[in-house]
Amino acid sequence: MVTIRRERKADVAPREALLDVSYGPIRFSKTSERLREGRRPGLSFVAASGRRLVGTVRLWDVSAGPGRPALLLGPLAVEPAQRRRGIGAALMRHALRAAARRGHRAVLLVGDAAYYGRFGFAAERTGGLWLPGLGDRSRLLGRELVPGALDGVRGAIRAPRKPVRTPLLDAVAGLRRPPEPRAA
Ligand SMILES: CC(C)(COP(=O)(O)OP(=O)(O)OC[C@H]1O[C@@H](n2cnc3c(N)ncnc32)[C@H](O)[C@@H]1OP(=O)(O)O)[C@@H](O)C(=O)NCCC(=O)NCCS
Repeated sequence: MVTIRRERKADVAPREALLDVSYGPIRFSKTSERLREGRRPGLSFVAASGRRLVGTVRLWDVSAGPGRPALLLGPLAVEPAQRRRGIGAALMRHALRAAARRGHRAVLLVGDAAYYGRFGFAAERTGGLWLPGLGDRSRLLGRELVPGALDGVRGAIRAPRKPVRTPLLDAVAGLRRPPEPRAA
């Protein structure tokens, strides 16, 4: 049975091995990687079959233009032998639910609309945004977690200079953001 859970420290090495197999060395030259390098993700999940890691997805705090916090999803990968069994979809749905529960308002990613469209991602939502270095704009996709969250967004997608506070956390007086998992 495959379960989806938070990434742990012991998952880092098998996650990196899975990403190597899934994307090859070009994964480090992707434009979205420029927003991730040297940072910890806001959310990170794995799919596990017993003790074996068979899938990974992470989400990173970014700004979708000035003053518009969002998450950047990726990379998503499933072990080749385990594909087409719904594990990718389970990771996506789990990640989107978790992001919404934490008060995030929108998720962006760079990927194939043919795959991500089924989870509500569309290039139409990102028309006013750009990702420095990204050639094919049709791969820049957005999905609102709160209706209207991407209305009027305009500008470059960037890594925030300081940790992003989500509206939900802001609403809870005195509650501090929990420490990031050390594994990620
Ligand atoms: C994309 C990926 C995560 C999907 O994982 P998965 O567990 O196989 O996903 P699911 O079982 O939920 O869905 C599989 C379906 O998505 C389709 N699919 C996979 N990649 C696709 C893509 N790039 N474009 C369109 N459809 C795609 C499969 O053909 C399959 O279709 P079917 O249901 O009609 O058979 C996995 O194929 C993978 O790790 N690929 C390599 C990394 C990668 O390319 N990731 C980003 C994609 S832009």
